[in-house]
Amino acid sequence: MAQLQGRTALVTGASRGIGRAIATRLAADGARVAVHYNGSADAANEVVDTIRRDGGQAVTVRADLSAGDGVEQVVSQLLPWLGGGQLDVLVNNAALFGGTLEEADGTEFDRMFAVNVRAPFFLVQRLLPVLGKGSRVVNISSGVTWMAIPQVVYSMTKGAVDVMTRTLAKSLGPQGITVNSVSPGITDTDMNPWMEVDAEATANAIAMTALGRIGAPADIADAVAFFASDDARWVTGQRIDVAGGLFLGP
Ligand SMILES: NC(=O)c1ccc[n+]([C@@H]2O[C@H](COP(=O)([O-])OP(=O)(O)OC[C@H]3O[C@@H](n4cnc5c(N)ncnc54)[C@H](OP(=O)(O)O)[C@@H]3O)[C@@H](O)[C@H]2O)c1
Repeated sequence: MAQLQGRTALVTGASRGIGRAIATRLAADGARVAVHYNGSADAANEVVDTIRRDGGQAVTVRADLSAGDGVEQVVSQLLPWLGGGQLDVLVNNAALFGGTLEEADGTEFDRMFAVNVRAPFFLVQRLLPVLGKGSRVVNISSGVTWMAIPQVVYSMTKGAVDVMTRTLAKSLGPQGITVNSVSPGITDTDMNPWMEVDAEATANAIAMTALGRIGAPADIADAVAFFASDDARWVTGQRIDVAGGLFLGP
């Protein structure tokens, strides 16, 4: 389990949901983890406290990734913490959901692309000087890249993430950096508030999942931990659906 001992990791959007599970899993594997958040300060502090209580090391990093200087805010907090060392694992997880054809406006469109696409791209670009041989970039995608849902803007952002994964894997390979994406299915987080109130929709979601349940954040985190580990040293430019067999067929 301690195969990330001595390594460092940054997980964006780690205050809640899947990002939180990724941060705690990577910390359990031995990594020192930067827990990025935006609005949920208490939740982010709780993640850091939990990691420390379990014997791990973590700090919080705050930045609004929809803001023009969001990436710079992350970088300026992260570099002193790295202390001249390498960033071994970058997990681009933070994202906003929404954007139907009927309701999306330009502001929402730009905000979603800023958090879901612009920030991951410029985080990689700005952090390149501290990424090096053996570093891992893991982008969180979504099953909506192959399954149509009404939130077309969100789906478009995740399509861009998949393209970025494949393309950066090629360009960063010579530096020994792998880039992969993990694509969750329907997962129990704040992004799906309907699960709390709509039993029928939840039952439908379970019915279209071969393994017959809703995904848990830890299900996704475990796949991210694989890409972060030495076991994934020869895997790059790949995307894995971690979705319990979502919509495999009628
Ligand atoms: N849940 C699902 O069913 C599902 C399915 C497929 C893919 N995914 C993907 O999995 C990832 C995690 O989703 P989740 O369900 O865990 O989401 P979530 O519970 O809604 O959490 C979103 C996280 O993103 C952060 N965030 C939101 N806006 C931000 C901003 N402007 N700047 C910086 N950070 C911001 C939040 O931070 P604060 O709370 O601190 O603001 C929070 O930590 C996302 O990439 C999502 O697209 C989720």
